[in-house]
Amino acid sequence: MRLQGKVAIVTGAASGIGRATAVLFGQEGARVMCADLNGEGARAAAEAVAAQGGEAAWTQVDVSREEDVQRMVQETVQRFGRLDILFNNAGVELAAPVTQVPEERWDWLLDINLKGVYLGCKHAIPEMLKVGGGAIVNTASGAGLMGIAGLSTYCASKGGVVLLTKSLAVEWAAQGIRVNAVCPGVIRTPMVERGLRTLGGTADPEEAWRRLGLVHPIGRVGQPEEVARAVLFLASDEASFITGVALPVDGGWAAGPTPRQFAP
Ligand SMILES: NC(=O)c1ccc[n+]([C@@H]2O[C@H](COP(=O)([O-])OP(=O)(O)OC[C@H]3O[C@@H](n4cnc5c(N)ncnc54)[C@H](O)[C@@H]3O)[C@@H](O)[C@H]2O)c1
Repeated sequence: MRLQGKVAIVTGAASGIGRATAVLFGQEGARVMCADLNGEGARAAAEAVAAQGGEAAWTQVDVSREEDVQRMVQETVQRFGRLDILFNNAGVELAAPVTQVPEERWDWLLDINLKGVYLGCKHAIPEMLKVGGGAIVNTASGAGLMGIAGLSTYCASKGGVVLLTKSLAVEWAAQGIRVNAVCPGVIRTPMVERGLRTLGGTADPEEAWRRLGLVHPIGRVGQPEEVARAVLFLASDEASFITGVALPVDGGWAAGPTPRQFAP
């Protein structure tokens, strides 16, 4: 068990990548606080962790609100006695050309995707210092490494997450806190499912997933569990000499274009 004795917070735990990671963390011995804006979903995630033999609690939190994030950290420490791992994963997407992005939607997205990561780190780090260190993993995106037409707001937020990650890695390395990011490609989760018809360019869901898969040299979309395994590695002591990386988990997407992405 790679996280035996550790206490972890997973934000965005109700769905997709967060839920898969919460379950995997539990299987690897961590006690997991499942946090999400969707309280019912967070509760269901905690139950899923328990069903796999793990130990978990849940809390409803809006990661863009400082009082919520502060409470999330306090509840975790009250319940489990310490904090070792924070997976800042909650996020939202917005697809529109910049000329059609209302100012309040820009603020909404940046508040969740970028400010939420800052708030999580701000309140988790003091607790990690009390136990001699910790590991933070932030969910950035391939969209934090490359510009993507129609996703400028999202790309700006995730590019911000990448450099926030690197800055905090340097800032806290000497105190034993590692800070890394994962940069997923297109992953089969409800977030993508919601925009599937537009993103995939067809009303046939399986055909849409197939077409989305073609942006990756590996030729398919990823599964949430494939991201969770990378997060587990970065959060565990196996990554003890790794900090400040933005790790693509993307079937080769960030490595360069593939002719297959132009296939019909
Ligand atoms: N799915 C992909 O293709 C993909 C690719 C790259 C990066 N990501 C990133 O991965 C992360 C997880 O995405 P997912 O695909 O699992 O999406 P998802 O929609 O399945 O899950 C996101 C979760 O975040 C929660 N959330 C949203 N706003 C919140 C808030 N203000 N406070 C707390 N929780 C909130 C939602 O309720 C949901 O449970 C996001 O940061 C997303 O940007 C996803």
